[in-house]
Amino acid sequence: MQTNLKVKRQDPEANGSQPHFQEYSIDIHPDSTILDALIYVREEVDGTLALRCSCRASICGSCGMKVNGRARLVCKTRVADLAPEGEQLTVEPMGNQRVIKDLVVTLDTFFDQIKRVEPYMKPDKEPESGEFIASNESMTNLLTAMNCIMCGCCVSDCTVLEVDDNFIGPAALAKAWRFTEDPRDDQRDQRLKTLNDEDGGIWDCTRCMQCVEVCPKDVAPMDRIMELRDAAIEAGNRDTHGYHHTESFYNSVKKNGRLDESRLALDSAGWTSIPRLLDLVPVGLKAMMKGKLPPLFPHKAEDKQKIRDVYEKVEGERE
Ligand code: SF4
Ligand code: SF4
Ligand code: FES
Repeated sequence: MQTNLKVKRQDPEANGSQPHFQEYSIDIHPDSTILDALIYVREEVDGTLALRCSCRASICGSCGMKVNGRARLVCKTRVADLAPEGEQLTVEPMGNQRVIKDLVVTLDTFFDQIKRVEPYMKPDKEPESGEFIASNESMTNLLTAMNCIMCGCCVSDCTVLEVDDNFIGPAALAKAWRFTEDPRDDQRDQRLKTLNDEDGGIWDCTRCMQCVEVCPKDVAPMDRIMELRDAAIEAGNRDTHGYHHTESFYNSVKKNGRLDESRLALDSAGWTSIPRLLDLVPVGLKAMMKGKLPPLFPHKAEDKQKIRDVYEKVEGERE
């Protein structure tokens, strides 16, 4: 089968080297994975192409790359599934991480994020019987998160990390969830408090779903982050902009049947937080000049009673 690969080449340590794309037209078996194709290029066509892989069985997590703009494990993705005979595949290094050469990135940022959540058990005392006993149910609950192979695909495509490198990131937060849910750990409350308070913590995720879509092991990091938010609120951690934002959203839709965007911004900043309120002034002025300032008195939905009925039903069921 004829395949055209367009591979991003770069060597940041070489003087004068600029990122550019190089095309390779190769003949491969129809069942080949993208990793097979790249290895073929390296072994038979161009020995200077740098890529990283190990297990070739979606276990080790070392072959994450962007293919046609989306992070994937290339050992798990067949060429024919993305590019039928003759079509082109674009392969680039993962995003949000520093490139060492061609398709190889350093995972330093990724592991620094993981370290921030202290990814190890912190029991208060030694086990009485020589080992910690955990129920089967509690371990089954952790299975999905424990499937993480630390490939970095979710971090590569996280839309918040693209603009804010202080965000802890989806992989680390999924790892944090794993320890808050483990009955053998005794620091759940402290972990939740830290993740809730920390700049770059659980409230910085914008719920874009990208990490859920690209994760090759169905860890669904965003779902874990939402569970961390719920757990943090239930544990009494409510003094954050993120929580105020959520609460304001909830109350204004309940009251008006629509979102009151002016109030949302003020509630999220905090009515007594002068510096944060001042931060809103330039944004407000810009919105006003573009005619996009939300109305000070929100429109009310005509059928707001129906929305209230939904709220009451859900709240009743919760109780
Ligand atoms: S859902 Fe949140 S953590 Fe996941 S990619 Fe989007 S912003 Fe990042
Ligand atoms: S959560 Fe999924 S995408 Fe992210 S590092 Fe783990 S396995 Fe990879
Ligand atoms: S080579 Fe190990 S996950 Fe792809």
